[in-house]
Amino acid sequence: MDVGLHPKIKLFAYSEVEEVTGYIGNFHVKIRRKARYVDEKECTVCEECAKVCPVVVPDEHQVGLASRKAIYLPFAQSVPSSFLIDMDSCLGTNPIACGKCKEVCDKKCIDFDQKDELINLDVGVTIVATGMDVFDPTEYDEYKYSKYENVLTSWEFEILTGPGYVTGGELIRPTDKKPPKSIGFIQCVGSRSEKRGQPYCSNICCMNTVKDTLFLKDHHPDMECLVFYMDIRAFGKQYEELYKRSRVAGVKYIRGLPGGIIEDPETKNLIVHVENTITGKVEKHELDMLVLSVGVIPRKETEQIQKLLTLSKSPDGFLMESHYQLNPIDSPTQGVFLAGCCESPKDIKSSVIQASGAAARAGRLLAMGKVKIEAITSSIDPEKCNSCGLCVKACPYGAIRQEKKKVPPFVIEAACKGCGTCGPQCKFESITLKHFEDHQIISMIDSMLDEKPEEKICTFACNWCSYAGADLAGLSRLQYPPNARIIRTMCSGRVDEEFIWHAFRKGAPVVLLSGCHFADCHYIDANRWTQKRVEKIWDKMDDFGLRPERLQLEWCSAAEAARWQKIMVAVEEIRKTVQKGEIKDTIRILTAEEEKQKEKKRRKKQKVANQESVTAG
Ligand code: FES
Repeated sequence: MDVGLHPKIKLFAYSEVEEVTGYIGNFHVKIRRKARYVDEKECTVCEECAKVCPVVVPDEHQVGLASRKAIYLPFAQSVPSSFLIDMDSCLGTNPIACGKCKEVCDKKCIDFDQKDELINLDVGVTIVATGMDVFDPTEYDEYKYSKYENVLTSWEFEILTGPGYVTGGELIRPTDKKPPKSIGFIQCVGSRSEKRGQPYCSNICCMNTVKDTLFLKDHHPDMECLVFYMDIRAFGKQYEELYKRSRVAGVKYIRGLPGGIIEDPETKNLIVHVENTITGKVEKHELDMLVLSVGVIPRKETEQIQKLLTLSKSPDGFLMESHYQLNPIDSPTQGVFLAGCCESPKDIKSSVIQASGAAARAGRLLAMGKVKIEAITSSIDPEKCNSCGLCVKACPYGAIRQEKKKVPPFVIEAACKGCGTCGPQCKFESITLKHFEDHQIISMIDSMLDEKPEEKICTFACNWCSYAGADLAGLSRLQYPPNARIIRTMCSGRVDEEFIWHAFRKGAPVVLLSGCHFADCHYIDANRWTQKRVEKIWDKMDDFGLRPERLQLEWCSAAEAARWQKIMVAVEEIRKTVQKGEIKDTIRILTAEEEKQKEKKRRKKQKVANQESVTAG
């Protein structure tokens, strides 16, 4: 409500972002403001319309535990405080079909002809705070949620005990509508399990249960409360104290997750069998109700949001931050910040901290009015460019723009992050990445293989993961072959096919290309291009009669020092199998191929020149 009333905040409720283009300082956003069919300024929430509406549907906000009409107020504190019509359930916009709400509305605020409105906005920065979804326990119905009415999720329990909801805060058992005498909570439903839900910890469920048990003990001191858990994670400030209070209040914590639930057909009580891993005994408990403490999952629209803003996802499906420890608020796209559970499951306090940080980061940028950009950015030489547009597709940030077909694209420096993935896409050498130019990398290869090339392991490692992994291996005193020579690039996506051929022509017995694991690449998904390119090179090596295993592609994170050691030892074993004769053959084959390509290019150039002179003539 504060946001709704703030003079400097424009709130677009019941709206969807359809398109975002541009870059930091210059985002263009297209918003669809959906038609409410009710004039939100005139509606006084008198409810007369809802009283006469004949359509009854489940209320999504109350997880289907209550119903609503087709014309409804989404929830008690909604902003703006105005009814809207759900056109999917409404009997018709035609008054002959129904139109009862329009008849009774004194204020004449119902308008069946209202249309969606498209709004275009120019904004400098964007904060994504799209929240999370709740795990659906019907997927793995081990606790018979879909079968027994008295098994609820923690969200449904919240609705049953909340004063603003269906029962007005009076806790009743779904089957007999009487107050329950005993309740059990089962923790980690859908969390911390590879097989049944998500492998990660949902962060909030333990303390949510502790809060619920304290609530129950405060309002119903005689109620029997049991919590079945693996371990209680009370990690925040004063959380441990709350957990202890719950135990002191008489809540029984049983370490062990139930193996099965059976319902007594007469009483509808739930019989729970569980192995108490502290006592080592199998226990049987009969309870009136069970609450499944369900985990949280990324919102189903995450992929859509990711595409809209060229963001990245972590392996758990939440949006990825720029750096897990050092830059947890920024997204990899400049000018886009993350707040709350869109980034990872978190409690209210952590969400408020992150949101305040995001607001401060955004405010600082807007106040400065200018941005510092990376020193490492790409540029395109329009003279050499043939306007094919391949680089536009390769840029993970949409930082290369081509206004029209057959017109050379250009780099928006403010949006370029310097991964260099565009460079290897260009077959006309028109792209330069500052500080990692082709000639600089080629000279490094030359000096690496100047002497005794047959003894070297030519390695390309990305700055953020593989190079850092190699560094850590050194710091950890992990021995790996000393003949490894590493060329650092910002991303594995910068490694051009030509660098690899050049290394082989210079006598390299093996080449190792290494980058971050998928979804860990610091440039969104630039390493997918690495994979594609290497697969092509392997095919070509096969065609040339070269052993593809002499080019190795490996993913290694900054923390995987031991993995780096293992990779290098394995590559060294391959190197030892490459004899001088094989290297000589490789040089001969690839040099001949290079000559062939040069000749092809020369002829093509000649043909173009001839055509131009004919046209001029
Ligand atoms: Fe490591 Fe892209 S940054 S592969």
